[in-house]
Amino acid sequence: MKKVEIVATFLEYDSKEELNEQDRNLMEKAIEIRKTAYAPYSKFKVGAALLLEDGTIVQGSNQENAAYPSGLCAERTAIFYANAIHPGKRILKLAISASSDLKVTDQPIPPCGACRQSILEYETKQKEPIEMFFMGAEGVVRYSPSLINILPFHFDKDSM
Ligand code: THU
Repeated sequence: MKKVEIVATFLEYDSKEELNEQDRNLMEKAIEIRKTAYAPYSKFKVGAALLLEDGTIVQGSNQENAAYPSGLCAERTAIFYANAIHPGKRILKLAISASSDLKVTDQPIPPCGACRQSILEYETKQKEPIEMFFMGAEGVVRYSPSLINILPFHFDKDSM
């Protein structure tokens, strides 16, 4: 028997104002698209913005459905659209912002498990990390240098 330890390192910025210009701009794009979320059931609105290798920014927001599981998170809306419209282009960065109509979201909101798995697919495929920034509606921005940093013991094509 041996003990296995996994250490993950993150950066935290007090607010998006501390980010460099490129990263702040990407976060602004996530905030902007958050307003298009269709979230009549949860009242929880999420925006995601991806920066591609050629400078293109692709945005997405969560889209809900009366049959609840049929909806889709912002991150997957954005990343599936990115790969459909820009196949093969590397994804450099992903910014996420979430807000609620019911309370103030001032904690950084990370992607859900299903979104982590979906983002992992593209990180694995491109063999280069996707840098991630996540925040609520205001306050701290948490930075992860890659997706696998927030998905230890992940399952990918090499697991099969
Ligand atoms: N949601 C996202 O868009 N991204 C996540 O990573 C977590 C959850 C959405 C799905 C649903 O529309 C609402 O937030 C509440 O779960």
